[in-house]
Amino acid sequence: MNERTAFKPVDRETAGTLSAAEAIQYHYDNETRFFSLFLDETLCYSAARFHLPNRAEPALDNLYDAQWAKIRFHLDALQLKPGARILDVGCGWGAILAAAVTEYEGRGAVGLTLSKDQRDHIESRNLKGVEVRLADVYEAELDGPYDGIVSVGAFEHFARPAMNKAEKIEAYTRFFEICHKNMMPGAFLSLQTIVWDTPTFEEAKTWIPETVFPQSDIPFIDEVVTASHPLFRLEYLENRREDYILTLDQWIKNLKAKKDVIIAEWDQEKYDFFEHYLRNSKLAFARRKNALSRFVLKRR
Ligand SMILES: C[S@@+](CC[C@H](N)C(=O)[O-])C[C@H]1O[C@@H](n2cnc3c(N)ncnc32)[C@H](O)[C@@H]1O
Repeated sequence: MNERTAFKPVDRETAGTLSAAEAIQYHYDNETRFFSLFLDETLCYSAARFHLPNRAEPALDNLYDAQWAKIRFHLDALQLKPGARILDVGCGWGAILAAAVTEYEGRGAVGLTLSKDQRDHIESRNLKGVEVRLADVYEAELDGPYDGIVSVGAFEHFARPAMNKAEKIEAYTRFFEICHKNMMPGAFLSLQTIVWDTPTFEEAKTWIPETVFPQSDIPFIDEVVTASHPLFRLEYLENRREDYILTLDQWIKNLKAKKDVIIAEWDQEKYDFFEHYLRNSKLAFARRKNALSRFVLKRR
């Protein structure tokens, strides 16, 4: 086994003591090479967009095209003019930042992440106009106003498992206040997040994978709407659990195809942990515990 990459899953008790940055680094700083073995070439680590609205059958049949459809969905939602500057809260390995300055003729794209591996990867790409900051959106001094903001797959980390509904809404409200303060009037915020589809708050609590994503809880749709409504007008909402089922199918397939490589370069424990978590995630969507929402919000 390669000592530099030893992976030790945390227990529940330890998971509950991690800071926001430690919790993110525990999951995401498992080496960019490792994630590249099961993600597609865009390195998007969030649901792709296989479906068009109001169509049961997927419009696309491969992950790469569906990830690009997702990237375009969010950037189109911002209705950017050439020379625009955007902020990506939770930018991952930078797919949206890169597209913003190339395909969308953006002047600048600033990404926030709490993962050092992701920051290093983006910096190594040397993309003109792209800047990545290792910073917590709740604490960073942001240099707005931006012409648009995207946030894909980060909202899932903004609430803590111990929070009740009112506390979650308060945490989300603070996020929307930060975005509002750093956007031009009338600008768009395109937000993608996993949501609870369980009928009750209590049932959702039993499904929180605290040792996979420590210090995280995901929203119910009504919590996002309540928290954003005073500052943003809801322009569009889609809710497609099938998009995540198809994405996870492909990630699981890719991971299994690289099983020998992963065990040789890291160890069996790391492989088992990730396979188990990806399978359980798929189950949560298949059993309608979770769904996947995209909100397009216009700053009031
Ligand atoms: C599931 S990844 C999604 C990455 C990327 N948007 C994508 O779709 O591939 C979650 C991202 O949110 C970031 N994140 C989570 N909480 C954050 C916070 N409080 N401030 C800044 N970034 C955060 C993580 O560092 C990571 O980049």
